[in-house]
Amino acid sequence: MKLVFVIVLALALYPSEELEFIEQRLHFNNSAIVLTKVDLSRALRRVDPRFLSVTIDASLASDEKFMNLLGSSKIRALARALTPAFLRFGGTRQDFMVFTPQEYNWQSKVPSEATVDQLYSFTNCSGLELIFGLNALLRTADNRWNSSNAEALMQYCASRQYKMSWELGNEPNSYEKKAGVRVDGFQLGEDFVHLRKIMTESRFYQNSGLYGPDVGQPRDHRIDILEGFLQSGSEAVDACTWHHYYVNGRDTSLEDFLDPEVLDTLALKTNEVLEKVKQASPQKRVWLGETSSAYGGGALGLSDTFVAGFMWLDKLSLGAKLGLDVIMRQVFIGSGSYHLVDDNLDPLPDYWLSVLYKRLVGQEVLSLKAFPNFKKFHKRVRLYLHCTNKKRYVPLAVFMIIKWYTIFTPFQLPSSKNGAVTLIAMNLNHKAARVSVPAYMASSTVVAFVLESDQSGEEGLYSRCQCIS
Ligand SMILES: *[C@@H]1O[C@H](CO)[C@@H](O)[C@H](O)[C@H]1NC(C)=O
Ligand SMILES: *[C@@H]1O[C@H](CO)[C@@H](O)[C@H](O)[C@H]1NC(C)=O
Ligand SMILES: *[C@@H]1O[C@H](CO)[C@@H](O)[C@H](O)[C@H]1NC(C)=O
Repeated sequence: MKLVFVIVLALALYPSEELEFIEQRLHFNNSAIVLTKVDLSRALRRVDPRFLSVTIDASLASDEKFMNLLGSSKIRALARALTPAFLRFGGTRQDFMVFTPQEYNWQSKVPSEATVDQLYSFTNCSGLELIFGLNALLRTADNRWNSSNAEALMQYCASRQYKMSWELGNEPNSYEKKAGVRVDGFQLGEDFVHLRKIMTESRFYQNSGLYGPDVGQPRDHRIDILEGFLQSGSEAVDACTWHHYYVNGRDTSLEDFLDPEVLDTLALKTNEVLEKVKQASPQKRVWLGETSSAYGGGALGLSDTFVAGFMWLDKLSLGAKLGLDVIMRQVFIGSGSYHLVDDNLDPLPDYWLSVLYKRLVGQEVLSLKAFPNFKKFHKRVRLYLHCTNKKRYVPLAVFMIIKWYTIFTPFQLPSSKNGAVTLIAMNLNHKAARVSVPAYMASSTVVAFVLESDQSGEEGLYSRCQCIS
């Protein structure tokens, strides 16, 4: 049997308002039917139009060859297919970068004007919205943020009319380890207030976004840093950002990438962060400001292959359902094995998955329940429901069968008034699963996008190629 990573786009006519609450109980038998309960009467939530966004790691600012690559028309075309989206430029190196005007050697101290120019030109020409991560480790004697270098950079960018938004600091929870500097959350919040004041006083950046604190996922004292930050800084930011990785890239396996327990850890961490933010600042948006499958640069042979799609699609779908507003994939191109586009500018399976997600999945998250959920088998069938992206796809119809190791099964319900819905389904089983949907959904034409690996068997999970049919 072939390993299949399926995108079925199914659409059905969505009659009208009387479709309040649909529940369809179908006969459950040994061929493992997953029954679904669907509520189309209202959206659970609405995510940002730039929900799926990407990053470039700040370590690449000093890599001249890489920065020149950003000028290529191929990379710009690949990026354009992911718009609307943010491009976050940040990471560990951002807290060690000092902006130096052109008279200095640009390779020794980054980012120079040339680096900023290249980065901006790449985002502006591909339609991405640049978020630039400032250095928060420039401190004064009394451990406040020294903003003078950031101000010089912002003045330069304003003089060139570079429209962009800002972040300050990356994973402040590990400053002690990385730089021997301790910055508590409350002080960091005050640093953000200071940065917001600078932005307000700048005619060019007074309406720009500010996001932070880009804290690592909840563990030990990290949550304290977030709490402290929210006390003093929540008003200064437009969205609260944190980072998430499922596993350690040096110590993971194919099994982890297909394990529903591993995928569910995202819900645990997300709920913890959402709760903290809700307590301190109820309306504040929460973003995954940097995220991927495995930390430490990814897991070579897994993060860059077909199997990575299970983690990526589940993160997008579950994240939206839980209430995350934007998810930024580490990385678009460049460092590590978790990139969407490799160093030869060839797109990897997760790139195509991202493009399809952009085209088919709309901003509204709908309620869907799959049951029975007591069996192990069913834990491995994961289903999500969204309104269809009306701007990018003209819907037709519905349905699907999920083959084994299937990923993405969107099906849609169109109508001129209400649009369509997109169903996303993943089958982490070795066996085929059958999903039954309400009859009115299944009764119309179906468009299915089937993504499969170019190879069959377990081999296929490790493939860097996939076919779309
Ligand atoms: C189980 O359901 C499938 C799909 O409806 C059907 O084809 C099959 O005959 C059923 N098997 C049994 C044992 O009822
Ligand atoms: C901030 O940094 C600049 C540049 O290194 C330095 O000239 C200035 O004295 C610093 N300001 C404070 C308050 O430490
Ligand atoms: C950004 O791109 C637009 C059109 O692609 C262009 O008109 C504009 O001048 C660019 N902005 C800057 C600051 O280069």
